[in-house]
Amino acid sequence: MNKLALSIISLTTLAASAGNPVYLDTKASIDDRVADALGRMTMEEKVNLLHAQGKFYSGGVPRLGIPGLWMSDGPHGVRAEINWNDWGYAGWTTDSITAFPALTALAATWNPSLAQEYGRALGEEALYRGKNVMLGPGVNILRTPLNGRNFEYMGEDPYLAGELVGPYIEGLQSTGTAACVKHFALNNQEKWRGTVEVKISDRALYEIYFPAFKKAVDAGVWSVMGAYNKIWGQHCCHNDRLLNQILKGDWGFDGVVITDWGGAHDTREAATNGLDIEMGSYTNGLTTEADGFSFNDYYLADPYLALLKSGEADEATLNDKASRVLKLIFRTAMAPEKQVGALCTPKHYDVARRIGSESLVLLKNQGNILPIDPAKYGKILVVGNNATRALNEGGGSSELKVKDMISPLQALQELWPGKVEYAEGYTSGRPLYEQHENIDTAALAQLRQEAVAKAKEADLVIYVGGLNKNAYQDCESTDRESFNLPYQQDLLIEQLAAACPNIVVVNLSGNPVAMDWADRVPAIIQGWYLGSMGGYSLADVISGKVNPSGKLPFSIPYKLEDVGAHSFGEKAYPGVESATASGTLIPGSVVEAGNNPVVDYCEDILVGYRWHDTKKIPARYPFGYGLSYTTFDYSKPRLSAKQITQGENLTVEVDVTNTGNVVGAETVQLYISDPKSSLPRPIKELKGFKKVSLQPGETATVAFTVTPAELSFYDPAKGWVAEPGKFIVTIGNQKADFTLK
Ligand code: GLC
Repeated sequence: MNKLALSIISLTTLAASAGNPVYLDTKASIDDRVADALGRMTMEEKVNLLHAQGKFYSGGVPRLGIPGLWMSDGPHGVRAEINWNDWGYAGWTTDSITAFPALTALAATWNPSLAQEYGRALGEEALYRGKNVMLGPGVNILRTPLNGRNFEYMGEDPYLAGELVGPYIEGLQSTGTAACVKHFALNNQEKWRGTVEVKISDRALYEIYFPAFKKAVDAGVWSVMGAYNKIWGQHCCHNDRLLNQILKGDWGFDGVVITDWGGAHDTREAATNGLDIEMGSYTNGLTTEADGFSFNDYYLADPYLALLKSGEADEATLNDKASRVLKLIFRTAMAPEKQVGALCTPKHYDVARRIGSESLVLLKNQGNILPIDPAKYGKILVVGNNATRALNEGGGSSELKVKDMISPLQALQELWPGKVEYAEGYTSGRPLYEQHENIDTAALAQLRQEAVAKAKEADLVIYVGGLNKNAYQDCESTDRESFNLPYQQDLLIEQLAAACPNIVVVNLSGNPVAMDWADRVPAIIQGWYLGSMGGYSLADVISGKVNPSGKLPFSIPYKLEDVGAHSFGEKAYPGVESATASGTLIPGSVVEAGNNPVVDYCEDILVGYRWHDTKKIPARYPFGYGLSYTTFDYSKPRLSAKQITQGENLTVEVDVTNTGNVVGAETVQLYISDPKSSLPRPIKELKGFKKVSLQPGETATVAFTVTPAELSFYDPAKGWVAEPGKFIVTIGNQKADFTLK
């Protein structure tokens, strides 16, 4: 080897020993790499890993060449680039992405393999955008249809959410991008989200609000986001029982707990109660900054370092936090085989389109007006602001900047050239996020009259309305203030139906809404925020290219008073302000002015259909309901045994036949009832589902395995128990009449 080469080698070796960037052995196991890095780090460097260095960037170890973590919202796509240290958008020209359908849409597909495709495609876009942690999925449970963020979550049932959240996480993390399941736990309303103390029984916690998070941990999620609210007197982002005892202890979570932005409020609690990375402190998590605070002022920055140096905080806990963060970095930013990402590919658009079309729920189809045969109609009129509105914008942190956004109107006009006219019918009439809107009733009346006049001349009306992403609609940080559709749409729909009896109503929303006009329209489709390919997804179903197979992920009640959370006065929602204010009010932080409100989950485990069934209050359309353009017949369910001993499994079989003349998919659902139990149980609980696609005339046998887990309930005194006794198995079928037992 010549002299020059020898001198280069010696130079490199010299540099390494002088503490300049060294490259930790990426071939070693993650645990070995963590131990190696930790052993080289100073106390200050370990603390530096535990808090933000930017709005969406947390610290690394520059001296060792260990990068920090780039985080990004949200659950439905990679959010546009945000400035280093304020909530403004950076105005890049390279961050337009694919908006995937909202998670309520994914839930409505009841299709775990689609969830896996969703996560994988999102992960590829995150890779291209250089993000290591995607701040999603959200699996908070829909206990009230007024919650502004239900569109980001997966409905009212923990089993359905749990079966879909795992595959989504596996798909996302298969790209080397971390998921961050949120918001742990009980962030089930936006009103007072930063301060509200949730009062809840352990039974409801473990049977309703925990299961989807537990399934996420069992699926190997690499990070969890703490919720803003409080439980047991502590904020969820640093809560000893929630994070140390349950999440990291009982459930064995080996990843990183990240605050929601601005969710940390106390150094000593942050130091000892299970928090690993503190983000967004001193902000309201969406729009405000508190000036005068630097990243070193974060609770887990200099204040924590001071506690460590004074011996008031122990180094063992610091090492645990730092090890978890290092592990996350080695799983993502420093993964040995970095994968290549991509944006807005045909594959990603296909995934978005298929999830969208498979998510649409056909609620009513009187006279089989759907699918539409355009040859039967002269003039087709599309009405509604949601037929053209860019529903990727707004809604809060999950908002997206897209390369493409196919609207329903565009897709229908492409499908039926020259036949489709449009009337807006209604408008929200104000910019996004503007607080309380001043409804311009004169403008609405004008739009309504124009639309109704056109409807009188039309042969078919396709109405596309619903909620949108404005404040007080489906939007973060505010809850809805009415169960009814906004902008006088109920009146508009009634008048359109009177003007043109051939009307199809498409409701796009992330929450149930009042449908008092349901008996006066022949067809209703419940749709969602469908993302970049949403117009095509909707046109695919309306035209019959795709046979709808969506099932409701939540009940649609007749009225708000029929909902458990709204049956115990305001203490159950939105809560009441307690006598004692607590917590220091940091200016501009998410801890809003006023005393600490307390919300009491009085309905306990009876959430959604559990309430409707037990209280015998029928929903207008029940959870799990959804029609098809074909019909399905079910055989009587068959059991592998009439009697099983404790611990033994049971097989339930049912034959399903497509008795119509078009191919279609049906989701067969299995519910368990335990009529006699030592603690009261809901009438029935979802414990299995399988989606099958059947050709006309085809029959398939669908089999479920029922194990003790599916028969169990949570007894706070004993844990999960499956008590001996009689159980009833109910098969949920297309008619959702739950008569197959
Ligand atoms: C927001 C949201 C959270 C989001 C985070 C970053 O306040 O609550 O879901 O991921 O802050 O934007």
